[in-house]
Amino acid sequence: MSENEKAPESREKCAECSRRQAFVKLGAASLGVTFTGAAVFGYDFLSPNVLYEPSPLTDAGKPDRYPEGSVTQDLQTGLYIVHGPEGIYAMSAVCTHLGCLTAWKPELDMIACPCHGSKFRRDGTKIEGPAPRPLIWLRTYVDDQGELVVDRSVALDRKEFVRT
Ligand code: FES
Repeated sequence: MSENEKAPESREKCAECSRRQAFVKLGAASLGVTFTGAAVFGYDFLSPNVLYEPSPLTDAGKPDRYPEGSVTQDLQTGLYIVHGPEGIYAMSAVCTHLGCLTAWKPELDMIACPCHGSKFRRDGTKIEGPAPRPLIWLRTYVDDQGELVVDRSVALDRKEFVRT
C-alpha cells in the first residue's frame, strides 16, 4: 500500500477518534453538572431551616429612669414599665382579647385597647370590655450592671415588684 491509499483511512479513523473523545468529554461534563447540582441541592436540603428570633430580654435602662407613679410605654417592645408604690413592674401591652396593642391614656389614668374597647387599670386588671384576662405581667429584674431587664418569655402568675 502506498501512502496515498492509507491517508483517507487514517483520516477517517482520526475523525471517528475525535468524535468519540468529544462525546466522552460531553458525557463527563454532563455528569459533572449533575453531581454538582445534586451536591448543592443535597446540602441545601440537609442544612437545618432555623429562624433566629430576637432575644426575649429587653434592657429597659436604669430603674431611676422611671419615677414613682409613672407608666412608660415602649412601642418597639410592646411593654409597659410601671413604677407603683410597691416598686417597678413590667406588663405586656398586647391586649388579651385578640392581640391588639393597647395604649396608655394618662388623662384617664387607664390603659385602653383601640380595637374592641377593653380597658385596664395601670396594674393590668380589666375594667371593662371583651378581654378575658388582665394584661400579662412579665419577669423583671435588675442585672449585675444595675440595668432593669424584662424577660418577655416569662409570664408571671402573681405580682412581683422590683424595689428600688
Ligand atoms: S383586641 Fe383588645 S379588645 Fe379586642
